[in-house]
Amino acid sequence: MERTLIKQTPEFIEKKIRVNGWVHRIRFLGQQLVFIDLRDRSGILQVVCYKPDLSQATIELLNSIRPEFVLQIEGEIKLRDEKQINPEIETGKVELAAKEIVILNHSQTPPFELDKDTSGINEELRLKYRYLDLRSKRMQSNIRLRDKIISFFREYMHKNDFVEIETPILMKGTPEGSREYIVPSRLHSGKFYVLPQSPQQFKQLLMVSGFERYFQIARCFRDEDQRGDRQPEFTQLDFEMSFVTQEDVLQYTEAMFVEMVEKLLPEKFITTIPFPRLTYAQSIEEYGSDKPDLRNDKNNPNELAFAWVLDFPMFEKDENGNIAAKHHPFCSIKEEDKEKFMRGEDLMNIRANAYDLVLNGYELSSGSIRIHEQELQKRIFDLLQISEQEQKDRFGHMLEAFTFGAPPHGGFAPGIDRIVMLMAGEPNIREVIAFPKTGDARDLLMGAPNEVSSSVLSDVHIKTVES
Ligand code: AMO
Repeated sequence: MERTLIKQTPEFIEKKIRVNGWVHRIRFLGQQLVFIDLRDRSGILQVVCYKPDLSQATIELLNSIRPEFVLQIEGEIKLRDEKQINPEIETGKVELAAKEIVILNHSQTPPFELDKDTSGINEELRLKYRYLDLRSKRMQSNIRLRDKIISFFREYMHKNDFVEIETPILMKGTPEGSREYIVPSRLHSGKFYVLPQSPQQFKQLLMVSGFERYFQIARCFRDEDQRGDRQPEFTQLDFEMSFVTQEDVLQYTEAMFVEMVEKLLPEKFITTIPFPRLTYAQSIEEYGSDKPDLRNDKNNPNELAFAWVLDFPMFEKDENGNIAAKHHPFCSIKEEDKEKFMRGEDLMNIRANAYDLVLNGYELSSGSIRIHEQELQKRIFDLLQISEQEQKDRFGHMLEAFTFGAPPHGGFAPGIDRIVMLMAGEPNIREVIAFPKTGDARDLLMGAPNEVSSSVLSDVHIKTVES
């Protein structure tokens, strides 16, 4: 007999079927009756085990069944009596009258109950047993929502003529303002790869390559202090377009988010369409923040207040008082500020064609129209006090690429984790990542980071010192 998915069982009234799944709950009622709520990927089904209807073998194993055992059950689907209908579950009008049960696997008692919301359980324990936590209803629905959102973006991008292109994970580093993860090279003693903070440089190079419209569901790595909306590895919907203005990128992105909410989250509503636009200066002056929360009712879980923040400053002072790029050094300068820029005056007030999308007080995405001319890019590096030699070493490939007919281009990179977090109404991005790291960047399930053997270290020419 073929397996039937639980959500399809209401189509099989009075028919014999076989289901597979996990024991969500089990209740023993008197001598004759056992109720099992069986869970599979599609839902939950009530299974009634009435001992007089069961084979001797099944009766014998019934007593040993515990939550999270994996079962195969055969029997007949019956309509429930009116009074027994459970409107809480999709299969609430039916139940399975069991005939034969096979235990496919046993389960230890899980470290926490999986038939309840696990958000109140100690997080270290949940992360250690993440594969169990993910069985719970809320986590299943978060991860499935993530899948739906990513699929929507992929489809939307393809519909609009974007090409999905994978860019390297082992690379040379790209400046996004965070510390980078480094990977030692075995073949080149004393040399290191760097993990990408984002595919920024590759996506710009792909514009030089003539793809015109690129996107990627891109994994990014940043060795920075963790917060609820930050992880050391996270995912961006990274995209780049040639021959576009800032207005084109804004309109494209806005239409995509409006359609995403309409299609995937019909219970939610967007406060203002078109999304309000503020300049960075306005946002700081009026809200004291470059990610203002423009919701009318912060207690309404369905309100989504998107807003654009435009005209970000090109430069800022870093913690040591040195000049740094506010976004990254590839942003172009606003036409009105170009003269000052060329003269190198009033640097802190020079604005870039750089924009953010914010939602409910979170920064969802950053982007800019880029520089595509070598001279202007060199000017930025000069103003950032990057020496000629360092420019050549770190960015020679970009400067050179710009001399081979680089088209004007710009792009954006919405953070997928933050989007899913806000759509799922979760308080942090760990709740929407299948296997996240702790606040201090540990993977409690596998136990990373960990020591490696001295032979592995010597292969990659590394000696460790006690700190
Ligand atoms: P930026 O550095 O602003 O821009 O990142 C874009 C978006 O990525 C998400 N994000 C993160 N999410 C989780 N954990 C983190 N540690 C983290 N860091 C960033 C945010 C953020 O808005 N290359 C540019 C984009 C461009 O110019 O096109 C970039 O990476 O949602």
